[in-house]
Amino acid sequence: MSRVAVVTGGTRGIGEGISLALKDMGYSVAANFAGNEQKAQEFTERTGIPNYKFDVGDHDAVIAGCERIRSEVGDIDIVVNNAGITRDGVLHKMSWEDWNEVMRINLGGCFNMAKATFPGMRERKWGRIVNIGSVNGQAGQYGQVNYAAAKSGIHGFTKALAQEGAKYGVTVNAIAPGYIDTDMVAAVPEPVLEKIIAKIPVGRLGHADEIARGVAFFCTEDATFVTGSTLSINGGQHMY
Ligand code: CAA
Repeated sequence: MSRVAVVTGGTRGIGEGISLALKDMGYSVAANFAGNEQKAQEFTERTGIPNYKFDVGDHDAVIAGCERIRSEVGDIDIVVNNAGITRDGVLHKMSWEDWNEVMRINLGGCFNMAKATFPGMRERKWGRIVNIGSVNGQAGQYGQVNYAAAKSGIHGFTKALAQEGAKYGVTVNAIAPGYIDTDMVAAVPEPVLEKIIAKIPVGRLGHADEIARGVAFFCTEDATFVTGSTLSINGGQHMY
């Protein structure tokens, strides 16, 4: 059966890898993005996966965006909450805006997407929600009180919603990626990143497709008994 999947932040970085992996599984994929129009158009031309522009942190925009996907692609069966930003800085230099923007998008985005799609999954008695957390939500990270709190919140959100979806065939799981070779990680100052990589037992950054394979597993038809689970994919950086 062809399922419809939405991947937030699905045109670049880890999200691009996830969109491609779900397409390879035969699903109809809609890739959301918020900012980089040019990258999104290039992605669509290259992959044939349509893109949908809306800000996952904006509740009304998410409801309208998901309604558009529903009318153009079909009822949404799978949601991958991947969209996320960083606004790194030590607490004593961090503004309230940098705190709030990360919470609004990274954690608020999961709530907004679930509000738009979970009721339909529940009614149709089948659904998959995969939330992208982070090793830094599990272990904390110097300079990331906002990001670590939001990602940690995603892990709690996952376990709570998993309990609500269980009776209705809707599984809710999380991936906790480590440091992956994306633009987000490339923005970490070189000397800081070198120190981080030195602490990864596998000795390198991860790749987007290595995260995508984990997401794909959660989205299979038969992973019905896997819910409320967090899969760490981090090269051994944090064993949790
Ligand atoms: N533990 C303890 N002390 C640390 C430290 C750490 N991990 N990192 C830095 N410090 C110390 C430094 O040694 C320095 O101390 P001194 O002043 O005594 O020398 C002090 O903190 C200030 O360090 P910086 O010069 O780096 O401070 P800054 O204000 O210029 O920058 C920062 C702070 C923005 C947080 C910068 O260190 C940084 O970007 N760190 C990387 C944060 C990070 O890993 N982000 C991950 C982004 S990718 C991602 O989030 C994806 C994912 O899910 C994994």
